[in-house]
Amino acid sequence: MNYYYVTGTSRGIGKAVVEELLADDNNIVYGISRNHTTEHKNYHPITLDLNDVEAVKSFRFEEHSEAEKIVLINNAGVLGHVAQVGKMYNEKIVQSYNVNLLSPTILINQFMRQFQDYACEKILLNTSSGAARHTIPSWSTYCTTKTGIEMFFQVIQDEQQDFDHPFKVYSVAPGVVDTEMQDEIREVEPENFRELDRFIQLKKEGLLVDPKAVGKKFVDILEHPGNYPKTLMDLRD
Ligand SMILES: NC(=O)c1ccc[n+]([C@@H]2O[C@H](COP(=O)([O-])OP(=O)(O)OC[C@H]3O[C@@H](n4cnc5c(N)ncnc54)[C@H](OP(=O)(O)O)[C@@H]3O)[C@@H](O)[C@H]2O)c1
Repeated sequence: MNYYYVTGTSRGIGKAVVEELLADDNNIVYGISRNHTTEHKNYHPITLDLNDVEAVKSFRFEEHSEAEKIVLINNAGVLGHVAQVGKMYNEKIVQSYNVNLLSPTILINQFMRQFQDYACEKILLNTSSGAARHTIPSWSTYCTTKTGIEMFFQVIQDEQQDFDHPFKVYSVAPGVVDTEMQDEIREVEPENFRELDRFIQLKKEGLLVDPKAVGKKFVDILEHPGNYPKTLMDLRD
């Protein structure tokens, strides 16, 4: 069997990835979110708030000694407070760092501690963003946490050369995807976000990517890693 841990599975990209994975009966999916919207015999809900760092520190993965493949998809994310630095709420700053950077670091450390010696195929995939690779005004905590977690994945990729049973590592930017995160972007006050019109236009012109297409691509990467030699990818390329 193949075991997939996916964070942020209640909606958007994470839910689309889960639906694609569950089309194959050999896949068992553990979904980590505060809410669960998938009911399937192979879907195991794990209710965990990534803003609750103490709860994340206590979380333990199961053993999967018979696994053919073990995967963790770091996908849960928050946009944070869209506003220029100087106008942000402290609680939103803390939440962004907790959900996008601190909790994933703790979870992945625990995941690798548990499965590093497994000889089966093992993959880590990060849902990255263009915002990890260039600045966007008013998205400072989003850009910073996305850059931070992408660098964390790149360091893991570098380190894995030293291990007998290395993890494959990917960090994939999906493009601008039609999810609630995009709804949230379009609702920001214009004075807080210089680029608001660009995002409103993308939606109006029907240029947002369908999350299902991202789900299919992620699963293709995970099923055929031999076809994807690069750690960093951008699905718009
Ligand atoms: N949409 C885009 O255009 C776009 C572009 C580039 C990258 N991304 C990235 O894609 C990923 C998924 O985003 P999306 O667009 O699918 O957003 P979304 O529809 O808002 O979904 C976000 C997911 O993250 C989970 N999440 C949020 N806060 C959480 C918390 N405190 N603890 C546990 N889970 C939490 C949510 O689950 P619960 O609320 O149930 O906890 C939800 O399932 C994010 O990492 C985002 O940065 C999105």
